[in-house]
Amino acid sequence: MSAEDQKRQAAMRAVEMVEPGMRLGLGTGSTASQFVALLGERVKAGLSVICVATSTATEQLAEARGITLSTLDETPELDMTFDGADEIDGELRMIKGGGGALLREKIVAMASDRVIIMADESKMVENLGRFKLPVEVVQFGLRATLDMVEALASDCGCTGEIALRKTADGQPFVTDNGNYILECDFGSIGDPDELDEAFRFIPGVVESGLFLDICDVAIIATKDGVKLFEARRDLDEDVD
Ligand code: 5RP
Repeated sequence: MSAEDQKRQAAMRAVEMVEPGMRLGLGTGSTASQFVALLGERVKAGLSVICVATSTATEQLAEARGITLSTLDETPELDMTFDGADEIDGELRMIKGGGGALLREKIVAMASDRVIIMADESKMVENLGRFKLPVEVVQFGLRATLDMVEALASDCGCTGEIALRKTADGQPFVTDNGNYILECDFGSIGDPDELDEAFRFIPGVVESGLFLDICDVAIIATKDGVKLFEARRDLDEDVD
């Protein structure tokens, strides 16, 4: 089964968790897109939900599927957020931001009672850091911010190339919030909590792609079926 098939399997399991009247956060990326498409089918069949999107891309997708959208200002408390991840470890700590939506994703996740992460098994890792950690930074003072990220990360034992994310045509990638993204090629992050804490000392850093203590349930599609991992206690559930 391909990674795309697994993403769909995870999204299919996730959409079963949605109940009428729920206020939902909609993540960003290819897995979250599968979820939005499946949610759209349920909405078409009569399900009533209100959703807040984590990016303009997801907003457009949801609109096209006839899903009612709200904002966090109108709907500041959400029941569940459904999103993907770039990496997820055994403690359900994650790296996110591959799609550049990490700031809104974190704001929406923190406004949610429960955060459900859907992923194919390639996203499971022993140690976070193989995926280049995205860090959203303001445009002003980019060089100084990058130098501080490098220095404080090094104090945490994280070294490696730190580069500005670029678009396909070589321009700096700009997030929905008008910021840049640094990609940190650390290889392995020994202490994600310490690194996350360190980033908070840097004024130019808006947010990092470390999502620690945020995921409540991970739905991972594997060759052997879909498995659910709940924060703190694990429960395996195979569905074919
Ligand atoms: C976007 C994200 C995505 O959830 C992450 O990049 C996973 O993407 P995909 O589902 O396409 O593999 O954090 O900012």
